[in-house]
Amino acid sequence: MCGIIGIVSHEPVAGRLVDALKRLEYRGYDSAGIATLEDGVLTRRRAEGKLVNLQRRLEGDPLSGTIGIGHTRWATHGAATEANAHPHMAGKLAIVHNGIIENYRELRAELEADGAVFESQTDTETVAHLVNRELRRGLAPKEAVMAVLGRLEGAFSLAFLFDGEENLLIGARRGSPLAVGEGEGEMFLGSDAIALSPFTDIVRYLEEGDMAVLRHATIEIFDEHGNPVIRPVRRSTGKAFYVDKGNHRHFMQKEIYEQPEVLSHTLGAFVDMTTGRTRIPNGQTLDFSNVRRIALSACGTGYYAALVGRYYLERYARIPCDLDVASEFRYRESPLGDVDLALFVSQSGETADTLASLRYAKGEGLRIASVVNVQESTIARESDVVLPTLAGPEIGVASTKAFTCQLISLAALAIHAGVARGVISPERELELTRSLAEVPRLANEALALEDTVEALSREMATKRHALFLGRGFSYPLAMEGALKLKEISYIHAEGYAAGELKHGPIALIDDTMPVVVIAPHDRSFEKTMSNMQEVAARGGRIILFTDAKGAAGSGSDMASTVVLPDMPEILTPIIYAIPLQMLAYHTAVQMGTDVDQPRNLAKSVTVE
Ligand code: F6R
Repeated sequence: MCGIIGIVSHEPVAGRLVDALKRLEYRGYDSAGIATLEDGVLTRRRAEGKLVNLQRRLEGDPLSGTIGIGHTRWATHGAATEANAHPHMAGKLAIVHNGIIENYRELRAELEADGAVFESQTDTETVAHLVNRELRRGLAPKEAVMAVLGRLEGAFSLAFLFDGEENLLIGARRGSPLAVGEGEGEMFLGSDAIALSPFTDIVRYLEEGDMAVLRHATIEIFDEHGNPVIRPVRRSTGKAFYVDKGNHRHFMQKEIYEQPEVLSHTLGAFVDMTTGRTRIPNGQTLDFSNVRRIALSACGTGYYAALVGRYYLERYARIPCDLDVASEFRYRESPLGDVDLALFVSQSGETADTLASLRYAKGEGLRIASVVNVQESTIARESDVVLPTLAGPEIGVASTKAFTCQLISLAALAIHAGVARGVISPERELELTRSLAEVPRLANEALALEDTVEALSREMATKRHALFLGRGFSYPLAMEGALKLKEISYIHAEGYAAGELKHGPIALIDDTMPVVVIAPHDRSFEKTMSNMQEVAARGGRIILFTDAKGAAGSGSDMASTVVLPDMPEILTPIIYAIPLQMLAYHTAVQMGTDVDQPRNLAKSVTVE
């Protein structure tokens, strides 16, 4: 998954292309490149690694063209080298691509047999050669692109720039998002509205199979059959997006600290704070009274949020739930039998596997609800009911504030469902929403533990492996804590249900193994303590996250203990997530890794 941008203008575009790529870097940062027409001639600059390398190259060797395309890459086919960096060129065109062309091998073989010489290992270059072949056969650019799109299998959004064509940019999409934006005497295309936000707020999203032809004064859109179509204008809210770390060293730290505020905003969407009653945001309705079963699906951190969501919905609304990681759900062909609602969780709203699962569930006739942070995303647009998290833009690749906002939304949703089904009385609803209203205060108290957690991270930073254990609501948190640690510090970490330890992982315990135990003094506390004793008996180095009662009840000095405030059970996943995020953050800082852009990752995973 990559980010793409294109501008057709009367002014030089290189600076703005780079500026837009900066806002798209969350989609990948293995290499970057731009191409413009210099006196009508296709010219490109590319650089391996982060965008800053391309910026340096452009400083030494600038481009002045008034039409251009740009790309920031997350490598799929071919290593992260300059040769594999986009734009790719063949004859009279340059292209940038987000997605995967699944039949590229056979296309490449066909083209090579036809005399094409490839410069890269990418799937993308096949598209450039295919279009170039059509141009050589005499087709005009638009017809050449159209002739090729039908031959491509897989997912793509593409932008094309043609030699000698100062007033023509072509974009196309299937499976990957692409937006076009209108300026005055200049037009734009890009992977999302955020990329276009400084240039225009008049944005249209292309639909599946659409192709767009951009000129200085016009944008024409054609559907997959080549018929002209009009897509609705969406006024972009992207202008609010401001890339600034404030006083923090990293975006991740800033986003951890934003949690009290964004949790309160998100809660306000789901709970009327004057009456204490839950609601479905933005005047939407979602009737849970007759829902027999819910299928939940998501990826990564969103999956762990969905797992907490399952626990919430089963406990507070007594609705049976199924849960799958989206990359399995979409292919498992599970009989959906008595499932009446499919519920997806996604920060970006663009994750390819989650989107494909949504489409699968829709095809099976299910009603679709999604907990989404980016309100203009494809998942939001394709859902029947959008359950917005109001976390604001999350820049750090490791998800923090979006996760806790997902949890508070799911908690409120479960209460709402419980009321609709008559398993939660109006009094209990008030009691639970009063508890949720304590989240911002408790989140602030959790943030105040930073120094304690930082001190513990110094030892963690010397380790190669770690285990995270929890039961009940704390089990998904154990997995989320382990994911945070591994993705930004590169320490191998596993999250386990504490009761599973004795079924295998306990073999790993020795005096070099740190074991993080998440154990608020809840109904599972004593059981988790037994599992902790089993670790201690084998010399494991324990870090315990608990409350005052838990600290008193853990009964020994075998652990380094972080004491969180007391809180109702429904809040523990939300609040305990915060010190786990800080543990991963400070460990990574000690180790000197790239916290906001860890190796091999991207913020938005728009390929399978
Ligand atoms: C981990 C992380 C990823 C995402 C996953 C799904 O910190 O951020 O695991 O949670 O890629 O992304 P979304 O939520 O955008 O669908």
